[in-house]
Amino acid sequence: MAVTRTFSIIKPDATRRNLTGAVTKMLEEAGLRVVASRRIRMTREQAEGFYAVHKERPFFGELVEFMTSGPVVVQVLEGVDAVKRNRDVMGATNPADAAEGTIRKTFAESIEANTVHGSDSEENARIEIDFFFDEDEIVG
Ligand code: RTP
Ligand code: MG
Repeated sequence: MAVTRTFSIIKPDATRRNLTGAVTKMLEEAGLRVVASRRIRMTREQAEGFYAVHKERPFFGELVEFMTSGPVVVQVLEGVDAVKRNRDVMGATNPADAAEGTIRKTFAESIEANTVHGSDSEENARIEIDFFFDEDEIVG
């Protein structure tokens, strides 16, 4: 298995509860390395662009409201099979369905305020990384 990259967001429910370090520790313990990291307040335009694939979903408006409601930490993670490794440690979208020991089971408040985002494919990881980072900001 090759070393690859994925894109992660520590969401506003987590920054509000001062969980940036705790979430990052779980990512690192899962074998992922933070090779880029920035704390930002997403603009409405950024959130709508980032979640454009969900535009037609009934929760789109609320999702954009939530993702712009407080600071987030955007990160590039590197590791063996990084996309899957990250999705595994994140757990299911709905924390009620998430496995024990996952980030969402441990910290998520609801299906929406679910603490972390992670890319769902290598192709989307590349698109999402490019959305927030220049290559010279990523230091492995
Ligand atoms: P993410 O993209 O944030 O990593 O989460 P995911 O792949 O597990 O879930 P996805 O289906 O892509 O949904 C994106 C985010 O939208 C919010 N959501 N709300 N109210 C709802 O029914 C609902 N469903 C999804 C969550 O914040 C989810 O992570
Ligand atoms: Mg998703």
